[in-house]
Amino acid sequence: MSDGIISEELWAQFAEQRLEEGNLNDHLDLPTIFRILGDAGGGAALDLGCGLGQSSFKLAEMLNYSVVAVDGSSEMLDRARNLYSGSRITWLESTFENLSFNDQSFDLIVSCLSFHFVCDLQPLIRNCASWLKRGGLLVFSVRHPIRTCNPVGELTTDQEFGWSVNEYANEGLRTFKWLGLDCVNFHRTVSTYIRFLRNAGLRLEALEEPISADETRSFAAESRSVPFFLTIAARKID
Ligand SMILES: C[S@@+](CC[C@H](N)C(=O)[O-])C[C@H]1O[C@@H](n2cnc3c(N)ncnc32)[C@H](O)[C@@H]1O
Repeated sequence: MSDGIISEELWAQFAEQRLEEGNLNDHLDLPTIFRILGDAGGGAALDLGCGLGQSSFKLAEMLNYSVVAVDGSSEMLDRARNLYSGSRITWLESTFENLSFNDQSFDLIVSCLSFHFVCDLQPLIRNCASWLKRGGLLVFSVRHPIRTCNPVGELTTDQEFGWSVNEYANEGLRTFKWLGLDCVNFHRTVSTYIRFLRNAGLRLEALEEPISADETRSFAAESRSVPFFLTIAARKID
């Protein structure tokens, strides 16, 4: 998948972690995205990098969207199909780079924690803008640029959690170990994400850095020192 730069073995590892109780996706990422979406629903939605399908399922069941859920990993999609069999979701195995839809096909495009795996993001965001109907919304989350600039920057002592931020302006490929396996991300500054949206004619509507307010969730506590995620929403206005 994705030009073969990430192994199916890594996604299989991720899938196990994703299903554990107390994961950051369910505690921080999805609640932020669905808070931004609010109650409005119905219409057509595209979920880019659906993984095991949790976001697609919520869009379909809670907000009544008819959802096209895309992922480049056959492992993830097979598991998603099994987890949510019987739902009204159309599962599509494809890299983002190979997707093609008619202009103005979707009311909503969502992507949870997938865009930092994409090498060339500007063309994809331009495509999203074309695929959205007028008034439609793109909402995506990425690993926070404070972390992607130096993916091995963790500075933890007994007393506190910190991060060594460096090479922030040096955008591009980062290779590191994640879940014990080789992984690549593409670092971009916050301003680059915003510029990509503006270049595509989208208007910024929300920018959030989810912070855990729940002291009992120790796995998420470090979000108060160093944010995990950046969540951005932008609308197609004309
Ligand atoms: C970290 S997982 C997130 C999965 C899911 N959205 C979630 O929040 O649990 C990233 C997903 O994006 C998919 N992905 C990454 N880059 C992709 C690309 N270029 N084309 C298609 N899928 C891609 C991966 O296969 C993986 O399932």
